[in-house]
Amino acid sequence: MLSEHTINVVKSTVPLIEEASDTLTDHFYQRMFAHNPELKDVFNMSNQRSGRQRAALYDAIAAYARNLDNLAVLKSAVERIAQKHSSFYIEPHQYQIVGHHLIETLRELLGEALTEEVESAWGEAYGFLADIFITREEAIYRSSYDADGGWRGRRKFALVEKRLESDWVKSLVFEPVDKGPVMDFKPGQYLGIEVSPPEEENIEIRQYSLSSRSNGERYQISVKREGIDHPGVVSNFLHDDLRLGDEVNLLPPCGDFHYVERQAPTVLISAGVGLTPMQSMLETLYDQHVQQPVVYLHACNHPGEHSFQRSLAKMLGSQHASEQGWTGHIWYLERKEVSGESVPGIQVHSELMDLASISDSLYLDDAHFYVCGPVPFMGFVKQQLLSLAVSEDRIHYEVFGPHEAL
Ligand SMILES: Cc1cc2nc3c(=O)[nH]c(=O)nc-3n(C[C@H](O)[C@H](O)[C@H](O)COP(=O)(O)OP(=O)(O)OC[C@H]3O[C@@H](n4cnc5c(N)ncnc54)[C@H](O)[C@@H]3O)c2cc1C
Ligand code: HEM
Repeated sequence: MLSEHTINVVKSTVPLIEEASDTLTDHFYQRMFAHNPELKDVFNMSNQRSGRQRAALYDAIAAYARNLDNLAVLKSAVERIAQKHSSFYIEPHQYQIVGHHLIETLRELLGEALTEEVESAWGEAYGFLADIFITREEAIYRSSYDADGGWRGRRKFALVEKRLESDWVKSLVFEPVDKGPVMDFKPGQYLGIEVSPPEEENIEIRQYSLSSRSNGERYQISVKREGIDHPGVVSNFLHDDLRLGDEVNLLPPCGDFHYVERQAPTVLISAGVGLTPMQSMLETLYDQHVQQPVVYLHACNHPGEHSFQRSLAKMLGSQHASEQGWTGHIWYLERKEVSGESVPGIQVHSELMDLASISDSLYLDDAHFYVCGPVPFMGFVKQQLLSLAVSEDRIHYEVFGPHEAL
């Protein structure tokens, strides 16, 4: 445990760290990549170039410093970060590197404010936090390794199928090159994919939600082509350059956003490419003939951008779905003429998703709500659910990027 003295010294520097947060973040990454360029193969270099979403690490450290005397409040954040880290296979020695550059950054920027006492308290506090992550990440690596069909770190997979799902989304299916089985995952989880696009200096790793049910043999992801002025590095590479038979490294499935079996209805809510984890959940619930109501809600611009339509119609139009009262609602922003019930069980609306207008069919008293899509969309959905008296502990969501609070 950290001593009261250490806690007090670290907490006393929080205002200083928060004030200089942007400068510290910039300096920290510049320093770290200059001294340890191998870490450019781990971090998302597009984010570094565009300056977006770099603050996560420093913000987390500041939050940790603020809550040093009440670490319980950080428990769910630690779990989420450890899951994310494990999709990059972050290893213990890298914590030393990050810790070193963190302290050096403080030294270089805080000058005299970084007394010996402050430095040693920060060193101790960082080491304590790093140990929490290292221990949890090792447990995740071990359980992936021990699982049937599981592995640790990187494993070679070959692309065996590529399919256009809608205007911007392609599904890619991978099988292990060693022809062995693959470990099961929980519907909603994601995996890390490591690729080397030819024009890039560095190896790039990204996360993609698994977009089918678990089957023990292969993994399917569904990728939206990102960016026009600045084409997204990995999504465009996967769309255009990766060919059948080409090999990539996959990191084992992980993530704390996943369907949990409960004696309660399930409501799946997505927008845009945020439907990928929902597709996995719905396929799983359908395959397992779950005897509970399911409501599927999705929003996108128009039918051309709506992936998995046929499979959705099959599942929601099935006898099982009608016996269990499964329903679906789709909102197309740009297509007013398609309103109505186009497929049994699926109601099509125009304009923006509005949960209040269908509140009678949402099982508001006891359903669990799984949400994925752009952050503003998820913020809107959460506010609507809260205003319909859904308790926060029944709302679960995934951000397709560094986590943000809604
Ligand atoms: C848990 C999780 C699950 C995910 N699941 C999915 C999924 O199922 N399907 C899916 O499609 N995605 C998913 N993602 C998102 C995915 O990981 C990638 O972030 C996404 O594919 C973009 O990666 P990229 O390499 O193509 O873009 P990057 O190269 O990382 O660029 C990201 C964005 O920045 C913009 N950009 C790049 N350079 C610049 C610049 N210099 N200036 C300004 N803007 C710039 C690009 O246009 C792009 O929009 C998920 C993410 C997470 C964290
Ligand atoms: C105690 C130390 C650390 C803290 C507090 C921390 C915190 C975080 C946080 C908050 C995120 C965002 C998670 C999310 O999206 O939900 C993150 C992501 C990430 N972390 Fe860490 N981290 C630490 C150590 C490390 C180390 C040692 C490495 C490896 C060198 C690392 C590599 C990454 C990477 C690659 C990402 C993904 C974001 C990106 O690509 O830029 N982290 N970390």
